[in-house]
Amino acid sequence: MGKIIDGKAIAAGLYEEMREEVIQFEKQYGRRPGLTVIIVGEDPASQIYVSHKEVAAKKIGLVSAVVRMPESTTQEELLAVIDRLNADPTVDGILVQLPVPKHIDKDAVIAAVAPDKDVDGFFGMKSGFTMKEGYVAPCTARACIHLIKTTGETIEGKHALVVGRGELVGKPVATLLLGENATVTIAHSRTRNLGEIARTADIIIAAVGRPMIITGDMVKPGAILIDVGINRGADGKVCGDIDYASAKPVAGWITPVPGGVGPMTIAMLIRNTLDCFLSHVQ
Ligand code: GUN
Repeated sequence: MGKIIDGKAIAAGLYEEMREEVIQFEKQYGRRPGLTVIIVGEDPASQIYVSHKEVAAKKIGLVSAVVRMPESTTQEELLAVIDRLNADPTVDGILVQLPVPKHIDKDAVIAAVAPDKDVDGFFGMKSGFTMKEGYVAPCTARACIHLIKTTGETIEGKHALVVGRGELVGKPVATLLLGENATVTIAHSRTRNLGEIARTADIIIAAVGRPMIITGDMVKPGAILIDVGINRGADGKVCGDIDYASAKPVAGWITPVPGGVGPMTIAMLIRNTLDCFLSHVQ
C-alpha cells in the first residue's frame, strides 16, 4: 500500500523554516523580501489563487502587496506598473497572475518582468530543456521535485514519466528531472499505449488536466506518483489526473488531491521570492 506524500504538512514545515530565514534576513540585510502580485480583471479562480499567495506571503513575514487592476486596463498601463516595480528596490519578486484579459499580450507582459524578479520562473525556463543559471525554476515544477525528494528515494537513473507537455508544468518539470539525472519520457493527451509506458516508470508526474488518466493497472509496483491535476470529477468532487483509489495500493508513494502539489506550489513561490531576494542582497 502506497504511502501518502502529505504536501500540506511538508509545506507547513517549509513555512516554519522560511519564517526563521526572513527574521535572519532582516537582521543581516536590514530589510525583508518583498513580493508583489498583480491581478488584472475579476476571474474568480484567479482571485482565490491570489488571496492564497497573499496569505502565505504575510504568514512568513514578507513585505507583500497585491496590485488589483480592472478588466479594462490597457497593456500600456500594465507595463507601466511592471516597470515601476522593476525599478523598486524593495520589491524582490513580481508575479502577474494569469490569465490576463484577452486584449493584453500575455507574452509581452511576461517578458516585461525583470528576469531577477520573475518568481514564476518563466525567464529561467526559456531555453528548451535547460535552466538558465542563476534564475529560479517555475514553482509547480520545483514543488514536484521537492515532494519526490521527501520520500528519500533517489531520482538519478530512474525512469520518470511526465504526462503533459504544458509550458507551466510539463516541460519545466521534465527539465528539472533531467537535471536530476532521471531518464525522462514526456507523454501527452495524444500518446498511444500510455499504459504500457507508464508501467515502466519509477516516477510518474501527471500534469495533463484529465481526470483519472492514470489508473492502478498502469502503475509499476512501488512507483512514486505525483499528481498535479486539479479537476472536477463526474461526482462533482475535486480530483487529480491519477485515480487515487486504484493507484494507491500499487504505488510506493502518492500525493493526494487536494493536499499534495497545490499547497507546495505556493510554498515554492515564497521560496522563489527568498531566492530572488538573496540574488539582490548578495
Ligand atoms: N495562473 C495559474 N497558474 C499560474 C502560475 O503558476 N503563475 C501565474 N502567474 N499565473 C497562474
